[in-house]
Amino acid sequence: MPVALILGATSDIAQAIAKQLAKENFNLILAARNIDYLKRIQHDLQVRYSIQVDTVYFDAISFDQHEHFIQQLSVFPELVILCFGYLGNQNAAEKNWEEAYKILSTNYLGAVSILNRIANEMEKRKKGTIVAISSVAGDRGRKSNYLYGSAKAGLTAYLSGLRNRLYSSGINVITVKPGYVATKMTENMSLPQILVASPEQVAKRIWKAIHGRKNTIYVKKLWLWIMFIIKIIPEPIFKRLNM
Ligand SMILES: NC(=O)c1ccc[n+]([C@@H]2O[C@H](COP(=O)([O-])OP(=O)(O)OC[C@H]3O[C@@H](n4cnc5c(N)ncnc54)[C@H](OP(=O)(O)O)[C@@H]3O)[C@@H](O)[C@H]2O)c1
Repeated sequence: MPVALILGATSDIAQAIAKQLAKENFNLILAARNIDYLKRIQHDLQVRYSIQVDTVYFDAISFDQHEHFIQQLSVFPELVILCFGYLGNQNAAEKNWEEAYKILSTNYLGAVSILNRIANEMEKRKKGTIVAISSVAGDRGRKSNYLYGSAKAGLTAYLSGLRNRLYSSGINVITVKPGYVATKMTENMSLPQILVASPEQVAKRIWKAIHGRKNTIYVKKLWLWIMFIIKIIPEPIFKRLNM
């Protein structure tokens, strides 16, 4: 059976992806910081599906542990899904470097640190798929969340370069820009429901993209048009908008 590693496996989107992959007969390695929560997710998956589920501690910002993290895996996965992320608080991050650093290091540095190592292993084996959840927030900086947005923009550019590098080794890299998703991350926001996807919709879309060897995907098609318009607004107008 193929094996998938899910980084940030306690995320709501990750849990929906885990179920989707379990249905597709993947064995799973779930990696996250909260081991008690991971064990509960592991138990639930094992009861529902006849697959093997392992759990392993992973902190995206413990960069010096990432090499050991890869070496300790009982089996190297053919599919890696990066789901961790930290929205943080834009206002606090403008005044407090620690909050800014947490946003930048979790969403960008943590992703680069672990994906560099995964990419090198996959390149040696000449097979594999990497899926990483970036964000439409990275498509253009806005005053309401440009710290998170700039980290995701960095991640999107990194994934584009990685895709280009790994193409000749037969490895596919998929960038996911989900738009709004109903998860813990957005539970306190009032969002237009037409733009909000469920974690299950994201998981299904990702599975289709893996199957179809896609490059970059938006989950709800409407986001493609919204971001097209946002990107073409001239800067002299854009800088005056309250977004
Ligand atoms: N929800 C949305 O509208 C939306 C939109 C666009 C993109 N995204 C992206 O989608 C991904 C999944 O988010 P979600 O919506 O499912 O939110 P979520 O349920 O809040 O999940 C975020 C996950 O990131 C993990 N995490 C944070 N810092 C970490 C670290 N240092 N090391 C390891 N794990 C860490 C959290 O683990 P702990 O429990 O240990 O904190 C949590 O499981 C994120 O990359 C997010 O940026 C979400």
